[in-house]
Amino acid sequence: KLLILDFGAQYTQLIARRIREIGVYCEIWAWDHDPAEIAAFGARGIILSGGPETTTVADSPRAPQEVFDVGVPILGICYGMQTMAVQLGGATEAADQREFGAAEVSLVAPDRLLDGLKDHAGSPPRLDVWMSHGDHVSRAPAGFVVTAKTDRIPIAAFADDARRWYGVQFHPEVTHTRQGEALLRRFAVDICGCATRWNAEEIIEDQIARIRAQVGSDEVILGLSGGVDSSVVAALLHRAIGGQLTCVFVDTGLLRWREGDQVMQTMAQHMGVKVIRVNAAARYFKALEGVSDPEAKRKIIGNLFVEIFDEEAGKLGNARWLAQGTIYPDVIESAGSRTGKAHVIKSHHNVGGLPEHMKLGLVEPLRELFKDEVRRLGVALGLPREMVYRHPFPGPGLGVRILGEVKPEYADLLARADAIFIEELRVAGWYDRTSQAFAVFLPVKSVGVVGDARAYEWVIALRAVETIDFMTAHWAHLPYDLLGKVSNRIINELRNVSRVVYDISGKPPATIEWE
Ligand code: XMP
Repeated sequence: KLLILDFGAQYTQLIARRIREIGVYCEIWAWDHDPAEIAAFGARGIILSGGPETTTVADSPRAPQEVFDVGVPILGICYGMQTMAVQLGGATEAADQREFGAAEVSLVAPDRLLDGLKDHAGSPPRLDVWMSHGDHVSRAPAGFVVTAKTDRIPIAAFADDARRWYGVQFHPEVTHTRQGEALLRRFAVDICGCATRWNAEEIIEDQIARIRAQVGSDEVILGLSGGVDSSVVAALLHRAIGGQLTCVFVDTGLLRWREGDQVMQTMAQHMGVKVIRVNAAARYFKALEGVSDPEAKRKIIGNLFVEIFDEEAGKLGNARWLAQGTIYPDVIESAGSRTGKAHVIKSHHNVGGLPEHMKLGLVEPLRELFKDEVRRLGVALGLPREMVYRHPFPGPGLGVRILGEVKPEYADLLARADAIFIEELRVAGWYDRTSQAFAVFLPVKSVGVVGDARAYEWVIALRAVETIDFMTAHWAHLPYDLLGKVSNRIINELRNVSRVVYDISGKPPATIEWE
C-alpha cells in the first residue's frame, strides 16, 4: 500500500483514484497528520501531493521528517516536489506568472521513473504533460539529478535513484499527461514493489471476511434508499451474512417514478435480500402539509425518516449492528478539513442520525472506497448496471424539487415529468453524458391555450448538468430536438402542465437543485 500526504491540491483524490485503478491500495492523509502514525503505517511508498501554498514563505506546510526517515520511495508532485527541494537542501523560486495547461517536457537524463516513457521520440525524447503551478524548483538538492526540463522551467523533474526519491513538477494524475498512468505505475509497482491486487473481486472477498469477523452471528439492519451506496452495501452484506441482514426501505412518496417497486424488484426479488418496505407516503404528505419553507421541509423529511426507521428497527429487536453506505470521500482527512465533517453530513442524509438509545455498532464496508470503486463492486456483485450508474438523487428526494408546499398531486406530476425526461435522455444517448438531470415542479400557474380556452396550468423546469465534483457545474448543452421532444411529451402526457422551461444557469452561482 501507498500513503498520499495531502497538501490541499484539488487533484489529490485523483492521485488516489489513479493509484487504485492500477490495483494498488492507498490512503490520503493530511500533511500534518501525526508523524508517528505515518511512520507506523507501513507504506511501501509515499506520495506528496500538490497544494495551493508556496514554499517560498517560511511557515507554509512541509512534509514531516519521518517521511524521509522511513526509507521508502517518495514521489513529490508539484508542491510536493517543491517542498522536497526545500527540505532536502535545494531551492525554489516564485515565478512572475502561473503556468497552467498543456506543456511539453524534455527528458534530459534517464532515471528509473521516466526511463523509456515518451510521447515524442527524439533526442531528448519529450512528454506531453499537464502543468498547474506558480513556483518551481530552481536548484535540485544534493544527490538529485535533473531529469526533465521545459522551455519555461529548468527543473521539471528530478530523481535520486539511490534513495528512490523523485519529484515531478507536472501532474501525472491528470489524463492530459499522457504517460501519467505509466509513470504512476512505474512508481507504485516497479519502484515501490506494490502488488496490483486491489480489484473488485479482491475487495469483495476481503470485505466479506471482515464483515463476518465484525458481526459474527448478530443481526444487522440497513436503511436502503434506492441509491448506489446503500444498494451495494446491501448486496455485499447479503453475500457475507445472508439472512442476518434486514433492510428497511422507507418509501416516502418523494422518490423517483416507480422507484419503490424497482427497489423491491431488484433487491428483494432479484438479489434475494430481506427488505421491509414501509409505505410512508401518506405520513410524509401529512407532515408536510402547509409547509413551504425549504429548511423546515428538509427537517420534517429527515426527522420522519429517523422516526420510521426507529419504529421498524424496534420491531426487529435483535439487531446489534447498523450498516451504512459511507464512502471514502465522506471520510477523507484532507488538508484543511481534518474534522471528518463530511461524515456527519452523510449519516444525516442516509440515516438521519439515529437515536442514541439504539446503541448499534456501525458496519461501513465502503468506507475505504471511491465512488467508481463502489460502482465496480456493485456490478461485480450482480446489481444491474442501470442502477449502479444512476445519477445521484438527493436524500429529501422530490421534497427539494417541488418548490414551496409539497402535495401528493405535485409529487405525482413531477415524478412523471422526470421519468419522461430521463427516458428521452437515455434514448438519445445523453444520460451518461450528463452528471445529473431532473425535472423541477414550479408552483406557479402560467397561461396556456387548451382547445379554444385559456387555461392556467403548472410549469415544469428541466435541469441537466455536467460536473466532476458537484461543487461546480455547467448546464448541459442538450440538443434542441431532444429538449423539444421532452417538452412535447410532458405537455401532451401530463394534464395540468402547459409550459416547460430549460435551466441554463451554471453553478456557481446557481446550485444544481432549485430549492
Ligand atoms: P446543490 O443543489 O447544492 O447540489 O448544487 C449538489 C449535489 O448535492 C445533491 N443534494 C443533496 N443530496 N441530500 C442529499 O443527499 C440533500 O439534502 C441534498 N441537497 C442537494 C444534489 O442533488 C447534487 O447532486
